[in-house]
Amino acid sequence: MSQPTIESILNEKRQFPPSEEFSKNARIKSLEEYQALYDQAAANPEQFWEQLAEKELHWFKKWDKVLDWQPPNAKWFVGGQMNISYNCLDRHLTTHRKNKAALIWEGEPGDSRTLTYAQLHREVCQMANVLKDMGVKKGDRVGIYMPMIPEAAVAMLACARIGAAHTVIFGGFSAESLKDRLVDAQAKLVITADGGWRKESIVALKEQVDKALELGASSVEHVLVVKRTGQEIAMTPDRDQWWHELQPTASANCPAEPMDSEDLLFILYTSGTTGKPKGVVHTTAGYNLYTHVTLQWTFDLQETDVYWCTADVGWITGHSYIVYGPLSNGATTVMYEGAPRPSNPGCFWDVIEKYGVTIFYTAPTAIRSFIKMGDQHPNARDLSSLRLLGTVGEPINPEAWIWYAHVIGGDRCPIVDTWWQTETGGFMITPLPGAIATKPGSATRPFPGILAEIVDLDGSPVPANEGGYLVIKHPWPGMMRTVYGDPDRFRRTYWEHIAPKDGHYLYFAGDGARCDEDGYFWVMGRVDDVINVSGHRLGTMEIESALVSHESVAEAAVVGKPDEVRGEAIVAFLSLENGYEPSPELEKALKQHVVNEIGALARPTEIRFTEDLPKTRSGKIMRRLLRNLAAGEEIAGDTSTLQDRSVLDKLRSGG
Ligand code: WTA
Repeated sequence: MSQPTIESILNEKRQFPPSEEFSKNARIKSLEEYQALYDQAAANPEQFWEQLAEKELHWFKKWDKVLDWQPPNAKWFVGGQMNISYNCLDRHLTTHRKNKAALIWEGEPGDSRTLTYAQLHREVCQMANVLKDMGVKKGDRVGIYMPMIPEAAVAMLACARIGAAHTVIFGGFSAESLKDRLVDAQAKLVITADGGWRKESIVALKEQVDKALELGASSVEHVLVVKRTGQEIAMTPDRDQWWHELQPTASANCPAEPMDSEDLLFILYTSGTTGKPKGVVHTTAGYNLYTHVTLQWTFDLQETDVYWCTADVGWITGHSYIVYGPLSNGATTVMYEGAPRPSNPGCFWDVIEKYGVTIFYTAPTAIRSFIKMGDQHPNARDLSSLRLLGTVGEPINPEAWIWYAHVIGGDRCPIVDTWWQTETGGFMITPLPGAIATKPGSATRPFPGILAEIVDLDGSPVPANEGGYLVIKHPWPGMMRTVYGDPDRFRRTYWEHIAPKDGHYLYFAGDGARCDEDGYFWVMGRVDDVINVSGHRLGTMEIESALVSHESVAEAAVVGKPDEVRGEAIVAFLSLENGYEPSPELEKALKQHVVNEIGALARPTEIRFTEDLPKTRSGKIMRRLLRNLAAGEEIAGDTSTLQDRSVLDKLRSGG
């Protein structure tokens, strides 16, 4: 990991206390109430989570022990048995929620569907039975490569119901990336669709699955295909089955399998600082409890809320806060297939107006692109149903925050800026909207039960307002359990960068941050070789490996550069093999190569050819310098370790 000097330049002083009106009706109504919960949880985290586990979830069998902590391995609710699909579905059927809308879905072409809890339960049971018939058993892994359609949620819940772990792979990933993940998880079956709609064209998902299997995902025995777009696709006899052909005769009776608390629920791959994606492992009970409680308190969920999170189910935000968190709470969750696009810049606001969305959760990159598209689009819609707004994915610029509050929230809706990660399972640092005054750009204060701190590399706390590494000092129920198949990588990646302090292990998340005099956290961004493009986490190593796999590339270094809309843009510095010359055609071919290897989300914005890359005497590429160059800034900091200064001069002069 590089060790940049962490320096915070943001000096934002505005404060927005919750309105009396909002606090009066909120679940957590005041700073005092938050502080009492926080103190109680900090004094005895186990007891705090245990009380919530009893109150909020259904258990087939109660646990014997709340927490078994053998750093860095945590087990929660040991000996307990439950099923998250039961908590998301069955238990609501005996209440007034039986015919409440569980999932409201809006397709990109304008088609729509609403599933009540009873209907969703029925479909999940049917798909669970189909999976069983296709040979899936408890403990197997199932790949899900789907567009944003209700069947994506059905598939996840069906897996959970029978105790098969799912691994959802974002539909924007290429066949090559899909293959890598299916192989790592040793998935037995893949659930996909013929295609999905993305900005008015069809993403050919099934075709990518076929390619991934050809490329060597040999553990996959069967493919279950949902019909979405209706274009011609190839079906391999015996291997591939259509969901719409199997569903009508599938039984809707499928009792939820009792799962041990620590049974594998899902694997979700995320980028790290080395080339190989990490399979982040989440288990059953702790994850269920954590997503349930964090959503309920942070979004102040009320029975009548219509809640919409715009993420894709291929990311953790979709897992925790489109599917599991909302359904476990018996809420109405909206799912939208489309993305804002030039041909329909107001589509998000139409969805809010059409369904009377009350809680809206999106990403800073989306907010910045709305700002660009103009206020006339939201202004032309009735957004008065909204009462609360949220953001996630990267630090939000205060100006975007203010726009969001004013133009979308009508100066009436609190904003919850939620800091968390794939690894944390759920919100870690976030305002509780009825209790905590917000400051634009700050995720404010830790969720009760989360002991966050800013430390230096030795694990010692740094003074207020000084930058440092954001760590968590005590396990929490939603934390990742390990890296799938690689416990050693888990330890190395998260628990060894920062020295254990007084024998206590510190979870280090990869982010730099500071804490101000009011105890508010200001996340400054990644301090490792991970870049954040449109809220998507990409490892620079992955992109470099993809580039180097092209015959023309000798060496590659990838850095992020600030980008107004996307947060960061990808800049690749390349040196070429002998016999290759820089050209616009080669540049185009290399960009396409990255798209084929990883997916469109990793396409470099800019490629700069160079004879050499700046390196230290020990041969390490000095990315810090490249970041400065990419951003068009002065080279900052020490360059004395540079092996060959002329490299830098050539790069500066554009050669
Ligand atoms: C960044 C997404 C600042 C951060 C849930 C983190 C944020 C990474 C925020 C995780 C926020 C996410 N403020 N930074 N509110 N939310 N991040 O795993 O760098 O896709 O480490 O999880 O996104 O990205 P991931």
